[in-house]
Amino acid sequence: MSADLSTPGMPLRLTRIARIADGIHEFEFRHPAGADLPAFTAGAHIQLRVPNGLIRKYSLCNNPAEHDRYVIAVKREMNGRGGSASLIDDAREGDEFLVSPPVNDFVLAPNAQNFIFIAGGIGITPIMSMIRHLRAIGGKQFQLYYCTRSPEMTAFRNELTEPEFKGKVTIHHDQGDPARALDLWPVVEERKNRAHLYCCGPLPLMHVVRDMTGHWSPTAVHFEAFSEPEKAKPDDKPFKVRLAKSGEIIDVPVGTTILEAMRAQGHDVPSSCESGTCGTCRTKLLAGAADHRDLVLAEHERGSQIMICVSRALTPEITIDR
Ligand code: FES
Repeated sequence: MSADLSTPGMPLRLTRIARIADGIHEFEFRHPAGADLPAFTAGAHIQLRVPNGLIRKYSLCNNPAEHDRYVIAVKREMNGRGGSASLIDDAREGDEFLVSPPVNDFVLAPNAQNFIFIAGGIGITPIMSMIRHLRAIGGKQFQLYYCTRSPEMTAFRNELTEPEFKGKVTIHHDQGDPARALDLWPVVEERKNRAHLYCCGPLPLMHVVRDMTGHWSPTAVHFEAFSEPEKAKPDDKPFKVRLAKSGEIIDVPVGTTILEAMRAQGHDVPSSCESGTCGTCRTKLLAGAADHRDLVLAEHERGSQIMICVSRALTPEITIDR
C-alpha cells in the first residue's frame, strides 16, 4: 500500500530550499534532532503534507546512501491542484512537515547490469536517485535520455553535463513542440532484451515508450507517474461494475475510479501507485470492454485484465473477478 498520511508520518524539518531550474525548486528535509531517517532505495517516493493541506507524492532524488536527509525537486505546476505552488510559494527553511516513510514502486532491478533511463521534465527526479546510486556503487552501465523544453528548464543540468557522464547522458530540448520530440525508437530497438528500461515523465511520453516496448519482456520495462493521473476526460461516462463473487453492482461516476468506488462501498482493495504503473491492482476482467489507461498491461492481456486504479469501461457494465 502507498504510505498514508492519514496515519501520521514523521515530522521533519525543511533545511534547505534551492532554485535549480526555471520553475523548479529543490527541498531538503532532515530529522529535527539530526537522527538518521528511514532508509530508502533508488526510485522511492515520500508523501508530505504541503502548506495548503494537500498531501502530495514526491520522488526522492538524492543518493540512497545518504541516511540523514531526503531531497525532492518540485516543479511549479500551473494546471495542478495547487500542491506544488503551495510548497514553492509558502514553505520556508526551518518549517516542519509531516512526511511519510519512503515507498518504492519503481525499483532498480538488483541483478541487471544495463539500464536505459528515459525522463521527461520533472520525471528526472527518481532517475537522478538511480543515477547517483549507480555512480556511487560503480560497475553498471546506463544511458539517460532526458527530454525537457529548454536548457533553462532542465533540472540537474550542471551535474548531468559533467565529463564523467559524457556518452552516457543525452539531453534533448523540444521547445514544447511535439514535432521536435526525441526519436526514441532506435534506442528502444537496439537495446531490446539487453537492458532494463525505466521511464518517468508526462503521460504522453510514457504511452509512447509503452507502445515502443510492446515487444520487450514486460518485466524489463518500468514506469513511474510523477503526477496524479488525469481522472476525467471530456467524453468519460458513468458505468457499472459487477463483482463476480458476490453479484454486487457498483456505480462508477465520472471523476471516480473503480478503485475509489469500491472502497466507498467498504471493499478493501490493495493498491500502491494508483496511477496505472505498478500492477498491484491488476484484476481479471470477465465481461464487458475496458477503456485501458494503464502502462502495465501488454496488448494480449487487455481483453482479460484491467487495472482498476485508472482504467474505465467502454461498455455500460463490466464484470470483474472480485
Ligand atoms: S495501483 Fe498501481 S497499477 Fe493500480
